[in-house]
Amino acid sequence: MQKVLPDTASSRDGRLQLGSLDVVELAERFGTPLILLDRATFETRAKSYAAVLDPDRVFYAGKALCCVAVCQMIDALGLGLDVCSGGELETARRAGFPMERVICHGNNKSLDELDAARDLGVGRIVVDSFEEIARLEGVKATSKLLVRVTPGVEAHTHEFIQTGQEDSKFGFTLAEDIALEAIRRASRLPSAPLVGVHAHIGSQIFELAAFDLAVKALAGFLRRAKDELRFEAAELNLGGGLGIAHTKDEPVLDPAAAATSILQAVNREFTAQGLAIPAVSVEPGRSLVGPSAVTVYGVGTVKSIPGVRTYVAVDGGMSDNIRPALYGARYESFLANRMEAAATRAVTVCGKHCESGDVLIKDAELPEDVAEGDLLCIPATGAYTYSMASNYNRLARPPIVLLQEGEAIEIVARESLDHLLALDRRLDGSPL
Ligand SMILES: Cc1ncc(COP(=O)(O)O)c(C=O)c1O
Repeated sequence: MQKVLPDTASSRDGRLQLGSLDVVELAERFGTPLILLDRATFETRAKSYAAVLDPDRVFYAGKALCCVAVCQMIDALGLGLDVCSGGELETARRAGFPMERVICHGNNKSLDELDAARDLGVGRIVVDSFEEIARLEGVKATSKLLVRVTPGVEAHTHEFIQTGQEDSKFGFTLAEDIALEAIRRASRLPSAPLVGVHAHIGSQIFELAAFDLAVKALAGFLRRAKDELRFEAAELNLGGGLGIAHTKDEPVLDPAAAATSILQAVNREFTAQGLAIPAVSVEPGRSLVGPSAVTVYGVGTVKSIPGVRTYVAVDGGMSDNIRPALYGARYESFLANRMEAAATRAVTVCGKHCESGDVLIKDAELPEDVAEGDLLCIPATGAYTYSMASNYNRLARPPIVLLQEGEAIEIVARESLDHLLALDRRLDGSPL
């Protein structure tokens, strides 16, 4: 279990300790469900990237978990921030995040979002479509630009494939010279300099060779861009995607080793093409925040169907973690209040939503006597959980509590019923 828990995890009297704090006491204080974010783990992972690449070449992907306090932690580390909507950009602004270290993404950025990026002085925009090039011209954008290309490598978990013409809503395909045309048009924008290219090849990548393939394709492409358009990329951004262990059978990758391997590939492939070595950036999301957080639920109903299965229902579910229902993501779980109890009973951990697919873990192993009142902990839930949370069935979203040096700070408050109803109006349109 240790390998999927944050670095500061330990057990005392059979109770989970995180960041030198007792998780049972935290659950009593803040209620459940509860997201606990361990600052030490988050910072260690961020520093691991920043030990190899300059900190401002590591753009934390806010989509994984975006809130003001997380933006402030990223700022304090000197990292950059990848935002992909006006809402994430506004979160960065309210966090006082330095805008020159922000990079803006999105396959359909609105004029309002591009206006905001210009007014705030955002450092970089990743250009995603021909329409966007026209919009950038229209708003007189001044950020540095990178053109997002799809290098024909798609990587997920242990598999990656090389395709000629890829099927993606993002960026420009290298096929049929479409990306080349994007470079040509983007480099003509009068007030926004085109400085490089960007590629993001997938998520939960464990095979670093996938990045090698992408870099090779990109170097070949940039050789052509130099020959045919006289464009030389000063910057190469290779996106995010590094995998983390959500379960004990998944490997643990070291961000520094991954960044080193990417740098080596860039040096090798750009030298082979006779090109100057560009400044390399990455955009890790999951690999920073994913392993840094756990979710703690209260166990409620335990329903045994003889000969079929046992359902252990918790007080959250698909509204705070949609990943298992959305794409079959797998997790581990254990009881935070009695870690030493032998896990001998195979159960299904489900949520409390009116939806049969509201299952968090299909084949969990828990103690035989798991019962109402136990605290069920699911590790590695920092990324794409809260940021994808919903209010399905009008459940309030849980709080996020940051653990640092023996201190617990609520950085996102629990939603109240008033929050849930704040936007409702009566039939005549009047507020409640
Ligand atoms: C462009 C881009 N950059 C970075 C990321 C972050 O990826 P991850 O959280 O897997 O590191 C994503 C994820 O979708 C992305 O689309």
